[in-house]
Amino acid sequence: MRLSRLIGTALTGLLLITGKAGASGVDLHWLWDNQCAECHGHSSEFAHKFLTLSDGRLQGNHRDRSLRLFLGNHYTRNTEVDAVYQMLRAQVLTKPRFRQECGNCHGSAAAFVRQSLVLRDEVLFSRESGQPTQAFLSQHRNLGADDVDFYLSLLNRIAREVYRP
Ligand code: HEC
Ligand code: HEC
Repeated sequence: MRLSRLIGTALTGLLLITGKAGASGVDLHWLWDNQCAECHGHSSEFAHKFLTLSDGRLQGNHRDRSLRLFLGNHYTRNTEVDAVYQMLRAQVLTKPRFRQECGNCHGSAAAFVRQSLVLRDEVLFSRESGQPTQAFLSQHRNLGADDVDFYLSLLNRIAREVYRP
């Protein structure tokens, strides 16, 4: 009885460890800020300045270099390559409006999401008031419907990068 419980506990521990190795759940913006920013600065500024999309693929300075392969040999754990790649790709595709239009009051988008917003069943809410972010944005800063769509999808994407499973 005791032995089987011990084995059960050991197995659960093993599952936790291997589960973690598969999908680390590391906040991608934390990862960037801690492991990449000292050389590259802010992630989205870096993406806009140095990366482009060519046929949907992310490209850096060297046209013939696969950035996925490059990242795997460049400070990025194998399990995080795809997530970092997708984050940089999304940043290239997103106009840097948050910094310009919201940053004065809210700082960086990732820090703002971490501090003020939560994801519940894929829907974004205020951490404090519990109000859906979509409803809040429609009443905030005279944002038009297109702006609300833009910011909702931006904040949703960042929330998925910050709160990873
Ligand atoms: C110690 C400094 C340093 C750190 C830390 C660092 N990099 Fe780099 N990175 C560089 C240098 C230097 C280059 C240019 C190398 C080259 O083009 O061959 C580069 C290039 C890149 C490129 C562009 C490659 C291209 O083809 O233009 C990407 C993307 C990149 N790094 C991502 C990352 C990520 C993600 C991290 C963190 C996980 C990171 N880097 C951490 C120094 C660093
Ligand atoms: C002039 C300062 C200012 C600017 C610019 C600004 N906000 Fe705000 N924002 C606030 C303040 C103050 C609050 C909290 C008080 C409130 O309810 O309005 C807030 C709250 C929020 C919240 C809800 C956070 C929570 O804790 O519930 C969201 C989401 C938000 N802002 C998004 C944005 C976005 C997106 C932009 C850019 C289009 C923006 N804000 C620009 C001042 C600003």
